[in-house]
Amino acid sequence: MNTQPATPLSRRRFVGGAGLVAGTMITRPIFGAGAPSNKLNVALIGVWGRGLAHYDSIAEENVVALCDINEARFPDALKRFPNATTYVDWRKCLDHKGLDAVVICTADHTHAFIANWALKRDLHCYCEKPLAITVNEARTVRATWETKKGKLATQVGMQRHAQPNFNRVKELIRDGAIGELKAAYAWGNRKIPKPGYAPEEGAPPKGFHYDLWLGPSPYHPYNPSYFSGGAGANCLSWNMFWDFGAGQIGDMGSHTMDLLWNAVDAKLPTSADAKGEAMNSDVTPVECESHFEHPANDWRGPITISWYQGGAMPRSPKPFIDLTKIGHGAMFKGTKGFLIADFDSRMILPFGDDADLTYYKPRTQETVLPPLGHFQKQWFDACRNPSMKTACDFGYSSEMIEQMLLGLVAYRVGKKINYDGKTGTSPDTPEANAFMTKAYREGWNIDG
Ligand SMILES: NC(=O)c1ccc[n+]([C@@H]2O[C@H](COP(=O)([O-])OP(=O)(O)OC[C@H]3O[C@@H](n4cnc5c(N)ncnc54)[C@H](O)[C@@H]3O)[C@@H](O)[C@H]2O)c1
Repeated sequence: MNTQPATPLSRRRFVGGAGLVAGTMITRPIFGAGAPSNKLNVALIGVWGRGLAHYDSIAEENVVALCDINEARFPDALKRFPNATTYVDWRKCLDHKGLDAVVICTADHTHAFIANWALKRDLHCYCEKPLAITVNEARTVRATWETKKGKLATQVGMQRHAQPNFNRVKELIRDGAIGELKAAYAWGNRKIPKPGYAPEEGAPPKGFHYDLWLGPSPYHPYNPSYFSGGAGANCLSWNMFWDFGAGQIGDMGSHTMDLLWNAVDAKLPTSADAKGEAMNSDVTPVECESHFEHPANDWRGPITISWYQGGAMPRSPKPFIDLTKIGHGAMFKGTKGFLIADFDSRMILPFGDDADLTYYKPRTQETVLPPLGHFQKQWFDACRNPSMKTACDFGYSSEMIEQMLLGLVAYRVGKKINYDGKTGTSPDTPEANAFMTKAYREGWNIDG
């Protein structure tokens, strides 16, 4: 293990030009192409799996800290980032001296904890999706983010958002290509059924800190099956368990709902209703659908949003369109037709006798939404200038995942619930409130 001392105390924080943060004097960086002071001191938490996908973009900065609960991952990571100090406990890593920014690629049940701690330490934060696995976690991170926005750059790892199709779908909806928007539906067909948590088997290998992997989660015995997937796909070994993830809602659901959410400008819903396969107290449902009511905003009336997974599907507008041929997709229903999309293409189905498209004027080359560019780089640019917007900041992303997680609350309650987004509670279904949060192990505090 590399035991280099932490980076010296030259805290070059890029916090919106503010002179003082948490009582610390901030020296402004000297900007300029290639200026050494223009680099951020970055920590990568979770260095293998999805973490590998971040190597090229973080390599352009100073990678000063690497954190993983599995020490066997360090030798390869250190080959790429030889000057980094290694940590097995993210709480210690976040206190690395001089740190500016953190990239979180750990298991889902730790995301909101690490993200919230990072923000509270004035660290720019990129967190892999999903940002949270309970309604309360999403709200906690957003509450902290509200106090830091404009000063810290945040991004949730929904990188498909950079695909041009996201902009094209948004433009078509906003410009009235299907008339007035009434409803939107997103779905995913992935199915990973499991009977329950894996039984105790064997012992963690030397240097594998299983207790730290569990972190805030209630205890479940070690089983190597949680760690048997390939790089970047190992999340499919644990993310369906209630204590480790949110099933498909947190997994492909984050990406696919993003395609929809980007186009409809929704905030929090006022109700949620859901149904699916029989409840399993260990495992999130495979087949499930949830429906939400959303109030009007400044460019459209009220709409409903629906999410379908694991075989549940919205009804196709025409028998000749087989929506099941789109594994992960979205459909929008307007007064003049439908728009159906996957991540990189879309089609419009004008519908009804007066759907003649005269009400729709395509944008000119000058007025189409500009490309987002490289998704990770957008965040690094905002770290240097936090007044710049990132596409999936913690405001946008926390509301999106809060809605999705509220669907799981309605599923568990087994009936439609009204939702008060101001308090994060259901006024008419008090039993739902228990499912807005979950049990944590003693000693772990999201607000640390
Ligand atoms: N954006 C995407 O397209 C995409 C793709 C795949 C995975 N992901 C997300 O990335 C995350 C990781 O998924 P994965 O398949 O790489 O999982 P994984 O189980 O392989 O974990 C990744 C790495 O994190 C380490 N780790 C786990 N918990 C940790 C902790 N508490 N502290 C420090 N290190 C820890 C693991 O040891 C491993 O090296 C998940 O949240 C997943 O949803 C996103």
